[in-house]
Amino acid sequence: MLGSMGRVQRGPATDVVASLREALDAASSIAALTGAGVSAESGIPTFRGADGLWRQYSAEKLATPEAFERDPQLVWEWYDWRRTLIRKAQPNPGHVALAELEERKTSQGGAFTLVTQNVDSLHDRAGSRKIVKLHGDIWLVRCVTCGRVERNDQVPLASLPPHCRCGALQRPEVVWFGEALPSLAWERAMEASCRAQVFLVIGTSARVYPAAGLAQVARQAGARVAVVNPEPTELEGLADWALRGPSGEILPRLL
Ligand code: OAD
Repeated sequence: MLGSMGRVQRGPATDVVASLREALDAASSIAALTGAGVSAESGIPTFRGADGLWRQYSAEKLATPEAFERDPQLVWEWYDWRRTLIRKAQPNPGHVALAELEERKTSQGGAFTLVTQNVDSLHDRAGSRKIVKLHGDIWLVRCVTCGRVERNDQVPLASLPPHCRCGALQRPEVVWFGEALPSLAWERAMEASCRAQVFLVIGTSARVYPAAGLAQVARQAGARVAVVNPEPTELEGLADWALRGPSGEILPRLL
């Protein structure tokens, strides 16, 4: 079995942090997979936590192509509300630490790829550069007819739902349940995962595939895996390091 439990290092204890920091320093290639938890300390709700979005709202009614076909106005109202929350939020020390880790690694000639399931762009705002967005970007919109993708920063949106210059409806450029991931992003995520010597899994419940499968891919290709999360996750059995705690506190300690 992969990642035998016996050698897992747990805790946010100083020696576990120090051991991971050493591995990060030594690695020539690092990949990180982030989820909603990394933005929790910025005030953006997660999906499955205690105040998670999917505990209050129905994913079927708001985040599927069928929902959009049925009621684009409702779907857009929900995205408009989330865009407003995200606009007010600031990157937290966890986002900043990941940007610094990338800066440090690349200035040493190494590779650092940040793969995120988040659509909030807080990693961009914190200064991360090589970002692979697996689930899209809430600030992009796509025409359902001509396919044109454009940036729309307006908060709140002036017209709900927004329309393309061709006259057709626009949708958020995000991945909904039942939809495929953008193929180029997926290829880049796979490549980074296969190449990584250390693979960080931060703030994700690791319940949504294929994103969650990247940790297994990395592990099988020889990476050591570190999980940063206040709660135990699906990936416990795979982790070489399990750092229990909020990413905004733990990640700065890895620098
Ligand atoms: P989830 O809401 O499923 O999981 C969030 C994770 O963050 C949980 O494991 C929490 O324990 C953890 N967490 C909470 N606070 C944290 C903190 N301060 N620091 C670190 N971790 C913390 O969110 P995701 O795993 O990102 O997809 O969800 C994956 C996908 O499911 C999302 O991209 C979205 C959703 O449906 C789509 O919309 C396609």
